Amino acid sequence: MSEKILILEDIYKSYETSVETIHVLNGTSLEVEKGESIIITGPSGSGKSTLLHIAGLLDLPDRGSIYLKGKKIENTSDAELSNLRAKHMGFVFQFHHLLPDFSVEDNVALPLIIRGETPNKAREKAREMLARLGVEKIYYKRPSEISGGEQQRVAIARAVVGTPDLLLLDEPTGNLDRENTSQVMEILRYLSHDLEITVIMVTHNLNLTSYFRKHYNLEDGLLKPG
Ligand SMILES: Nc1ncnc2c1ncn2[C@@H]1O[C@H](COP(=O)(O)OP(=O)(O)O)[C@@H](O)[C@H]1O
Ligand SMILES: [Mg+2]
Repeated sequence: MSEKILILEDIYKSYETSVETIHVLNGTSLEVEKGESIIITGPSGSGKSTLLHIAGLLDLPDRGSIYLKGKKIENTSDAELSNLRAKHMGFVFQFHHLLPDFSVEDNVALPLIIRGETPNKAREKAREMLARLGVEKIYYKRPSEISGGEQQRVAIARAVVGTPDLLLLDEPTGNLDRENTSQVMEILRYLSHDLEITVIMVTHNLNLTSYFRKHYNLEDGLLKPG
């Protein structure tokens, strides 16, 4: 039996606006096993970001259950959720969110330093992860001095340097050209195949499904096999 890293069970989420209630997730369920790579597609507004935020414990559902490594997430304080995210999750978004005044190396080392590792050890691990993702040569540069493709690879390095159980990505290639997009996809394949990091990516781009082992489509607030 392989380990279930994350289980989402019958998840509901809606938003109240001044004029209406938008029902985004309508009983969505998802089981994620260790080492799996999953792509979730759907058009703009279908609820992909909402689902990814719930999977990443950045937001809580209105109803439904979440289990992270077998432990149910309920009555969990914000501080505890934040700890769980730091320990188990790595995030990458459409915009890289790298710190502009820090070098590439320090951006990647920072999560480890915050976690209590010595700066030297953290930088060594950062450099190692940058090398694995093919961007070690730019370690001393600032984020503004590297290309968009490099920025996203550095953001991925930062997300996985602490070896999270789950790497969650929301439209990570939204700003990239085709060449950089395929480089990022190859990196995700490498992370899941070779480093056994579990990957969930949401995107509207249906051309990227072949890089993942499982494909779901988010339709009417439910996940259907793609
Ligand atoms: N904080 C919010 N308040 C109100 N409506 C929201 C909020 N976040 C998302 N929505 C709405 O929920 C729906 C799903 O949004 P989202 O999850 O961002 O979809 P996607 O990522 O697939 O584009 C959209 O109709 C969006 O406008
Ligand atoms: Mg979105």
